[in-house]
Amino acid sequence: MPGQIIPIIPRTATMELPLPGSIGRPDYAPGERAELIARIKQLLKEKDAVLVAHYYTDADLQMIADETGGYVSDSLDMARFGNEHPASTLVVAGVRFMGETSKILNPEKRVLMPTLQAECSLDLGCPAEQFVPYCDANPDRTVVVYANTSAEVKARADYVVTSSIGVDLIRWLHAQGKKVLWAPDQHLGRYIQEQTGADMLIWQASCIVHEAFKAEALKNLKELHPDAAVLVHPESPKAVIELADRVGSTTQIIKAAQELPNKMFIVATDNGILYKMKQAAPDKTFIEAPTAGEGATCESCAHCPWMAMNDLRNLAYVLETGANEIHVEESVRKKALKATQRMLDFARDHKKGVLGKGNA
Ligand code: 13P
Ligand code: SF4
Repeated sequence: MPGQIIPIIPRTATMELPLPGSIGRPDYAPGERAELIARIKQLLKEKDAVLVAHYYTDADLQMIADETGGYVSDSLDMARFGNEHPASTLVVAGVRFMGETSKILNPEKRVLMPTLQAECSLDLGCPAEQFVPYCDANPDRTVVVYANTSAEVKARADYVVTSSIGVDLIRWLHAQGKKVLWAPDQHLGRYIQEQTGADMLIWQASCIVHEAFKAEALKNLKELHPDAAVLVHPESPKAVIELADRVGSTTQIIKAAQELPNKMFIVATDNGILYKMKQAAPDKTFIEAPTAGEGATCESCAHCPWMAMNDLRNLAYVLETGANEIHVEESVRKKALKATQRMLDFARDHKKGVLGKGNA
């Protein structure tokens, strides 16, 4: 039956948020920030390294990537860029699955991360020990996993996707009569199921950042700003997606902010994206979508605590010492490569566009 829900809530004991005080921009001593930025730029050259950062990381890291020939993007393009760039060391500022994806695609390169503690609730919510037997119990289904998963989970998959190509890939599988087992994001899975009509078994993990967006408060904000367009990442709950003018990956909603005629946008994704959004559309105004319910004290805290663990100090440290190298066991890597390479091939062969209303 289309849109079936897997009847388990996989949560692991390891799903702990970073300790208070271990996240957010550090209090730099006077002159320290400028000194670190200069040192990192120098070290990137000396070590034949390139910095690949996600949109949700600190603005300083995004700025360094931009100014040193590195790259700031969504998880699909980070993988693609790292795969195509000639540097012998890739420094991936993001969360662990992003570093692992780079290593899966580039075994000959050294892949470093500013921190190895940066997890993702989707990855944690889909442990391979539970996922593999579930796939084995459903042998008639094509296994499609979101990039936000461990190398072991990718190794059991037929395809890896990111939010920028999820709808396109599953529509393509559906057209071939394939039934899908989808993991781990329940909201993205349901969104894709609704867009494509595919027969999908949907794993029940979620993103702690996007799940916090509140539809009622967003409705009220829309009423206050009737001319604003609402941009939503599809990891958000259904009621929030229903209020969207555009739904898409991080890159796709930045594009939407440039292309739509509106002068104001309400943005339902991690607020790290605002650095690039403001660069892409400097004449427009952006408001963070509310994560607090009515009467709560903070309007929005939409920031991934794990992405926030990447900072100038740990970036300089790994470049200096070679610490925090990502390793993926070779037999796992080889299996995970198949499904991950299919993602890059599919993205290359099929035109991707902004997902969702008016564009699906
Ligand atoms: P993107 O693929 O859109 O960059 O999303 C990755 C992610 O972790 C979103 O929370
Ligand atoms: Fe994972 Fe959500 Fe953080 Fe993205 S924002 S890395 S999906 S926890």
